[in-house]
Amino acid sequence: MSLSLIAKSIKPSPTLALNEKFAILKEKGDPVIHLGGGEPKTRMPMEAILATVAHVNTGEVRYAPADGIPALKQAIIRYTEEFYDRKVTPQHVIASGGAKQAIMVALQSILNPQEEVIYPAPYWVSYPDMAKLCGAIGVPALPEDGTFYPRLKDIEDRVGSYTRAVIINSPNNPSGAMYSEEFISDVVGFCEKKDIWLIMDDIYHRLIFDERKPINALKYAKKQDENSKLIIINGVSKQYAMTGFRIGWAVGSKKVIEAMSNIQGHQTSGPSVLLQKAAVGALMGLQSGVESLRATLENNRNVMIDMLRSFEGIKVTKPDGTFYCLADFRAYEKDSNKLSKFLIDKVQVLTVPGAEFGMEGFLRLSYCGTIKDITEGIERIKWALDLNSPNELYIGDRKLVRDWA
Ligand SMILES: Cc1ncc(COP(=O)(O)O)c(C=O)c1O
Repeated sequence: MSLSLIAKSIKPSPTLALNEKFAILKEKGDPVIHLGGGEPKTRMPMEAILATVAHVNTGEVRYAPADGIPALKQAIIRYTEEFYDRKVTPQHVIASGGAKQAIMVALQSILNPQEEVIYPAPYWVSYPDMAKLCGAIGVPALPEDGTFYPRLKDIEDRVGSYTRAVIINSPNNPSGAMYSEEFISDVVGFCEKKDIWLIMDDIYHRLIFDERKPINALKYAKKQDENSKLIIINGVSKQYAMTGFRIGWAVGSKKVIEAMSNIQGHQTSGPSVLLQKAAVGALMGLQSGVESLRATLENNRNVMIDMLRSFEGIKVTKPDGTFYCLADFRAYEKDSNKLSKFLIDKVQVLTVPGAEFGMEGFLRLSYCGTIKDITEGIERIKWALDLNSPNELYIGDRKLVRDWA
């Protein structure tokens, strides 16, 4: 079969594939623990539930405008005023099928084939393939100092005549690192100076710990007009635990939002009106759920990091936000795909190989689940890797016997 060059170059999403694997094992009744998850386990806000039900009850679920219903645009405008201190108009806003689609149509609006988009490594798994879908090239920028915190120089060094855009995701999936105000202000200034696009993927910006405050990149933009090349991405998936609703958005200049709307209009049309109404409910309703999710995640992070730090050989940087950490397992195994497979096969713990995020030898471990899953999951990993631990491990009434050395 002759598929297109683009189709042949795209890998399946590794995280979605792991979710499928988890579902299959779970259905078989295996006592599998998911430490690879990318979604909070809390209920979505009541206002979102009520808005969905009320709209279904009208019996009329029709097409939505390609760039979002007016009520959602208004809610996003309010959000932008609250968190970015910027008054925008509906023409500066597009609602998409998740932050994922918002980023995708943004890239399709600004990248030409062969052009380059730079993002710090470790990076979200989808950026490289999204660039490929535009016929463009993703360029990871691994911090030279070996940390998860890039400096401007790490970006600068990779900028060339083909560079068209930079994507910054902070706090970062997979490391949980939140970049400094200084770095964000440097990047904004640098992209303006070089006249390149800057996409801020802020999807985790409220899920931050240790009394940090969300950083507003718009504060540092000198170009506040229609020539601005700064695009802010956000959505309801993570902060309101509404991943399945697939509502995200972008805020940018009228020109880029119009281009994105044109593309989205042909691609999928606007996101389902039902789900947009739910997003309005979440954004306009009580916000205490976001704070309670944030506090739960901070506690979960503390539990996971304490356990990992007591685990000889594992190196881990304490995450500043999100619900992920990226731990260095190279003392045990340098091939992260092999290690991840070993852990699921031997102790039924699902982890995501660091290679998928540009960090070979690391595993991404999520703490968005229960404390029980976190503690049991890490204990099983420890048992599997630490050859000084007892030869047997009980999972419920199943006895595991170590048959490897
Ligand atoms: C960094 C980052 N950006 C964007 C997304 C996409 O979010 P959504 O579910 O709203 O499409 C994710 C989801 O995992 C993410 O981790």
